[in-house]
Amino acid sequence: MDLSTTFLGFTLKNPLIASASPLTASLESIRKLEDNGIAAVIIHSLFEEEINRELRQIDHFLHANSESYAEALSYLPAGVDFENIQAENYLKEIMRVKAAVSIPVIASLNGVSAGGWAKYAKKLQEAGADALELNITYIPTSVDMEGPTIEQMYIDTVSTVKKHISIPLNVKMNAYFSNPANMAKRLVEAGADGLTIFDNPSRVDVDLELLTALRQANITSSASLSETLRWCAILYNKLGCSLCANTGIHSGQDVLKAVMSGADATALASVLLLHGEGEIRNILHDLTSWMQEHEYESISQMKGSISLSHTDNPSAYERNSYMHALQHYRS
Ligand SMILES: Cc1cc2nc3c(=O)[nH]c(=O)nc-3n(C[C@H](O)[C@H](O)[C@H](O)COP(=O)(O)O)c2cc1C
Repeated sequence: MDLSTTFLGFTLKNPLIASASPLTASLESIRKLEDNGIAAVIIHSLFEEEINRELRQIDHFLHANSESYAEALSYLPAGVDFENIQAENYLKEIMRVKAAVSIPVIASLNGVSAGGWAKYAKKLQEAGADALELNITYIPTSVDMEGPTIEQMYIDTVSTVKKHISIPLNVKMNAYFSNPANMAKRLVEAGADGLTIFDNPSRVDVDLELLTALRQANITSSASLSETLRWCAILYNKLGCSLCANTGIHSGQDVLKAVMSGADATALASVLLLHGEGEIRNILHDLTSWMQEHEYESISQMKGSISLSHTDNPSAYERNSYMHALQHYRS
């Protein structure tokens, strides 16, 4: 049974990647992920805001005492929060993880602008990251901001980051565009070698005791897989880039559905947070059992087999399927 697949130019031993989460923030759990069979790991994100804070602190440190006497130069200026120097720690973490595991290690930058923080991409490459994932999550709140402005912000961020690296760049995109397929194409033109379909936004709720809004990381289930499958099927073989299915991959069956829809790989977070690193073995077991039962020999054999690339008019197909689903509801 050949479970191997290609993603961002790497040959992965199977299509399971650990998505960025607290499990990929510790070397101990990354080792467990590898021991249980994960094929690659995406380290938890370093945020633009963390890098900018550090850049401001360094600037403050360099200039705060510029008017002082030489004897005073060794004083630490007030206001420099050395506990918060996240970005440098992140680089050290990449080095430690790279030295400890043999699977591809993908660093993750999380930001929304084309600012100076993007230079950190180069540092991540120099620290040994095999590839970089860029998560751009921007929630527009202004009723005056028009869609094209936001889209251009995404494109500019991708092309700025791309300029700083020669390792593959994976863009973790969201579905909130009037035409995600066109946005995907433009992200690839701007420099993305792969796309993760899709990021999962934080969950909004209200705490009725504290009377406050809550924003929580969203723990998904297989029921969240629908949009991932839809857009993998639409984008398969359209863009000349890798596709990674994300959000709602919880079982071997979910992996099969994603690969048949057109994904090269799948990224998992919630299922591993819920059940631990050992769940990877169960998912791989279910995946191979199903393939054996249905006489499939390889992942590549089934890739994209139910994608929309086999459909003459995908838009008409989507519209007909939508009408059919509403008109033929059976409880
Ligand atoms: C607790 C938690 C922390 C996460 N941290 C990150 C992060 O640092 N960077 C990122 O790009 N995504 C992060 N994510 C999103 C996941 O990587 C993943 O995209 C999302 O949870 C959907 O996949 P899933 O259905 O397998 O959970 C986080 C998710 C959770 C639940």
